[in-house]
Amino acid sequence: MEQFEAFLGLHLPTVPCFHPHYESSLRQMLTGGGKRFRPALLLGVVRAYNPLLTQSAYHVALAIELLHTYSLIHDDLPAMDNADLRRGIPTLHKTYDEVSAILAGDALNTYAFEVLSNAPLSDRVIVKLVRSLAHNGGVAGMVLGQAIDCHFENHRLELDQVKMLHIHKTGKLIAASLQMGAFIVGRDDIASELYDFGIDLGLLFQIQDDILDVTQDDEEAGKTTNNDEAKNSFVTLLGYDTAMEEANTLADKITQRMESFDENLQRELSPTLNHYINRHKD
Ligand code: IPE
Ligand code: IPE
Ligand code: MG
Ligand code: MG
Ligand code: MG
Repeated sequence: MEQFEAFLGLHLPTVPCFHPHYESSLRQMLTGGGKRFRPALLLGVVRAYNPLLTQSAYHVALAIELLHTYSLIHDDLPAMDNADLRRGIPTLHKTYDEVSAILAGDALNTYAFEVLSNAPLSDRVIVKLVRSLAHNGGVAGMVLGQAIDCHFENHRLELDQVKMLHIHKTGKLIAASLQMGAFIVGRDDIASELYDFGIDLGLLFQIQDDILDVTQDDEEAGKTTNNDEAKNSFVTLLGYDTAMEEANTLADKITQRMESFDENLQRELSPTLNHYINRHKD
């Protein structure tokens, strides 16, 4: 992922202007760290089926990371989760102000599609990628999940509703990362299988995130934790032990599905996935 990181560094939004902090407000959360989980998934699929397209895929991986980063900036705003720390540094509205954070989110959201449209891939593939990112990141994807998450604070949802919420706010963008990898290498035949796998993986990822909220402090997590009490998190709903069981069951299901993948795909995705799948084993 070092090369992707270098690529990201070279493609940060560049907007020289007399505004004292506009450009840095757009860059700060991108360079602040982050696991780059979604780019790693997309690049894993590309490397498994056509490593020669890796460089072109960096544009697409960056687009996903940009949209994801926008979602985090808005997620932390006082109107949403009201968090002070993200990726080990103060959130944008703490460093600057709410206006800067709202606008940085807006800017990264649209910049994602600008970067994607400039990817050195065929127009036909780019349109598919735009559709997937917009669909899974927007109206019927991440934004819907965030809307439900925030609207039902302090109102308990049913377990299947909580799963639906998690699948939208987190699962769909993770699923899209794998699906978009398949589109890049022209393996549309496996795109929906990878997408479904990504939905399960995303659900596991969010259950683990809910567990981290109660097990890690701010410094360990690099973000504000102990922040989900009013939320329909898995831990709030089921309690810690049952949330762990749910995560283990899902991790087993994901491991089994992985075993049916092509060997090259297993090899490329394992380094990214093993940590999440095996987290509860020790
Ligand atoms: C945090 O995402 C928000 C969730 C969807 C759980 P990540 O855990 O991927 O955050 P970064 O990108 O590593 O900062
Ligand atoms: C947010 O979920 C998921 C997004 C779409 C940003 P959380 O609110 O649980 O994410 P963290 O814990 O703040 O990273
Ligand atoms: Mg949130
Ligand atoms: Mg949050
Ligand atoms: Mg969380």
